[in-house]
Amino acid sequence: MSAGVLRSLLFVPGDSERKLAKGLASGADALIVDLEDSVAAERLPFARGQVLEFLQAHAAGAHPQLWVRVNALSSGRLYEDATAVIPGRPAGLVLPKVDSYADIERIALTLEAIEAGHGIAVGSTALVVIGTETPAGLLALPSYPQAAAVHRASARRLAGLTWGMEDLSAALGARVRSDAAGALRPAFEHARTTCLLTAAALGVQAIDGVYVDFRDAQGLRGEAERAREDGFTGKLAIHPDQVGVINAVFTPSVAELDWARRVVAAFEAAGGAGVTSLDGRMIDRPHWLLARRILAAGAARAPAAKPEANT
Ligand code: COA
Ligand code: MG
Repeated sequence: MSAGVLRSLLFVPGDSERKLAKGLASGADALIVDLEDSVAAERLPFARGQVLEFLQAHAAGAHPQLWVRVNALSSGRLYEDATAVIPGRPAGLVLPKVDSYADIERIALTLEAIEAGHGIAVGSTALVVIGTETPAGLLALPSYPQAAAVHRASARRLAGLTWGMEDLSAALGARVRSDAAGALRPAFEHARTTCLLTAAALGVQAIDGVYVDFRDAQGLRGEAERAREDGFTGKLAIHPDQVGVINAVFTPSVAELDWARRVVAAFEAAGGAGVTSLDGRMIDRPHWLLARRILAAGAARAPAAKPEANT
């Protein structure tokens, strides 16, 4: 994982000029400008144009990263969405309701043609996949690592995997998502865990889903902390008020960074040994990997500390 770890990714409806402006000032590591569920179908043509203008006005290299959630392949709208926004060079696209790796492969091939047509480096548009919104998509996730090993060009675009309950519960007809104590019901726990494991197997960022009760900062913090404890490295947001909490939770503490640096230093001092010790405890490769992950997450702190610098 590189310094590109995104702690907070804020959804912003693509047809709202006001929210787009607010999003820029939110402190989020990434904005996900939405063309899908938060935009009414009759507003979509307007939203596509506005999103392109927004991307062009706040383009490449800036903080926050600008991503676009396009419509699903199955909707028949994805091609027009991508054609409209790729000229604005978004950092990447967020793909909803993905049914299988074949969807990703097809979308990646489409993007190759669009990128080439606009003189944009082929392969430069990254992808974050929402992999659990359809039952078929969730069942297909375990096949991703093998498919990615075959389809290298599309796999190189993958930057993250995330999950959601809204569309999955509608597809299942599920009325309840968690029990009174807050534990997820099995289908949703399965979705969350499968997302986490698949992301790790692919070597991409595991991004936790949205916390919809945006006035409940304490509930959000608890959910984000549990996600981080389990290995997620970022979380989706739907309201600017959620960004500060999410950034704080997913930023390694000074003590964690210190531990991680000392682990890496201990291995360097051990000169290529696979196992060594720190403070009287054995450390081996898993500790080194965890230390590297913490340092990568720590690298996300720098741009977020001064969001106004590049905008
Ligand atoms: N991005 C940027 N700005 C946002 C925002 C967002 N996601 N959500 C709210 N804001 C802005 C509002 O415009 C408002 O600014 P203003 O007072 O200058 O108009 C301010 O933050 C406070 O908003 P608030 O009144 O608390 O919320 P709201 O009732 O206006 O909006 C939602 C609530 C849920 C509709 C809104 O947060 C939203 O649109 N979220 C994103 C939804 C989405 O994209 N869903 C798809 C993914 S699940
Ligand atoms: Mg949805």
